[in-house]
Amino acid sequence: MDKITISVIKADIGGYVGHSSSHPNILTKAMQLLEGPKKKGTIVDFHVSNCGDDLELILTHRLGADAQEIHKMCWDIFIECTNLAKEMKLYGAGQDILSDAFSGNVKGMGPGVAEMTFEERKSEPVIVFAADKTSPGAWNMPLYKMFADPFNTIGLIIDPSMHEGFTFEVLDVFGNKKVKLNSPEDIYDLLLLIGASEHYIINSIHKKSGEIAATTSTQKVNLMAGRYVGKDDPVMIVRCQSGLPAVGEVLEPFAMPHMVAGWMRGSHWGPFMPVPVCDANPTRFDGPPRVIALGFQVTNGTLIGPRDMFADPSYDLARQQANEIANYIRRHGPFEPQRLPLADMEYTTFPKVMAKLKDKFK
Ligand code: F6R
Ligand code: MG
Ligand code: MG
Repeated sequence: MDKITISVIKADIGGYVGHSSSHPNILTKAMQLLEGPKKKGTIVDFHVSNCGDDLELILTHRLGADAQEIHKMCWDIFIECTNLAKEMKLYGAGQDILSDAFSGNVKGMGPGVAEMTFEERKSEPVIVFAADKTSPGAWNMPLYKMFADPFNTIGLIIDPSMHEGFTFEVLDVFGNKKVKLNSPEDIYDLLLLIGASEHYIINSIHKKSGEIAATTSTQKVNLMAGRYVGKDDPVMIVRCQSGLPAVGEVLEPFAMPHMVAGWMRGSHWGPFMPVPVCDANPTRFDGPPRVIALGFQVTNGTLIGPRDMFADPSYDLARQQANEIANYIRRHGPFEPQRLPLADMEYTTFPKVMAKLKDKFK
C-alpha cells in the first residue's frame, strides 16, 4: 500500500462572535465541500473541527506533503467558507486569506499547515493538536517534554525502542533557516534555542532511523503580511506508541498550563488551557489561549475517531490552574510580564507614540 499523508490545514476565515469561536454553518459547509473529493478518491478521509475562530481541515490522502491538488482544494474551501462568512458578516471574515490568487501551495499565503507522510504501522494512533490565541512556539515545551524529558516520558528510559532518543528540527523564524539537533546528546543546545519560543520553533521530530514522529505548523502570519492579520494559531500532528511516546506521554505535558504568547491582541502571555472541543471558545480577555487534542486510529487511511482527548477529568486541575494563573497575571494589566515585550506585540502604537514624543525627550 502507498504511504499515507495526514494534512492538517487551517485558517481563521471568520469569527463567531468576535474572534471567540466558529459558526456551525461554516463547519458544515467545509464538511459538505470535502464529501466530493472523498467520493472522487482525491482524499481518503477527512475530519473538520475548530479551535476558537480557527477552522481545521484534517485530511488523509496518498499524494504526499505539499501536494498542489490538496493545497488548492483547501484553499478553495477556505474561499467558499470565507464567502459564507462574509454573507453572515462574521467577524474578520477571510482574516487568514491574505492573497487573492492561489500560487501552488498554501504555505506562506496565510493558512497554517502541518503534514506528515508515513507507512501505516500495524496500528497507527495519531493525535492532532490545534490551538487558538497563541503561536507555533507554544508547542516547543510540550514537544521537548514528550520526546526528550524522562520526567515526562518514562519510555525514554525503559523502552529499548525509544532509548536512543530523537532528532529535533528547529526553525529560526527570523533567519528562515533550520537546524537539526539530537536528544539526548544536544539537549543543552536545543533548550537554549527552543526556550526562546517566539524565535526558534520546533518544526518536526524524527526517530533516529528517520521515521517521522511529529510535525508542527510554523507559518508566521503576522511576519508574512508585514502587519497584524491574526495570530498564527498553530496545529501539530504527533504519532504515538510502539517506539514513540505513548498516548499518555504525548498528553502529559499539557497537565501543566505553561505560559504562551498570544491571548488578547496577540500581545500577552497567558496560560495554555487544555480543553475539550466544546470548550475551545476563548472569551475571557479573548482567552486564555486554548489547546484541543483529537485522537485518531488511522486505518488504511481512514480516520477512526476523533476521541476528544482533553475531555477527561484528569485535566480539570490544569484548567483550574490555568484560570488561577489567568486571574493573577491579568491584574498586571498593561505591564510586563502580562503584556509581551514591545518587539513581540502584534498590535503596537509604539512608533507613533515615539514620533509624537520625539521632541519631548530631553
Ligand atoms: C488575538 C485575537 C483577538 C483580537 C482582538 C481585537 O489573536 O484574535 O484578541 O486581536 O479581539 O480584534 P480586532 O482588532 O479585530 O478588533
Ligand atoms: Mg480571528
Ligand atoms: Mg484564532
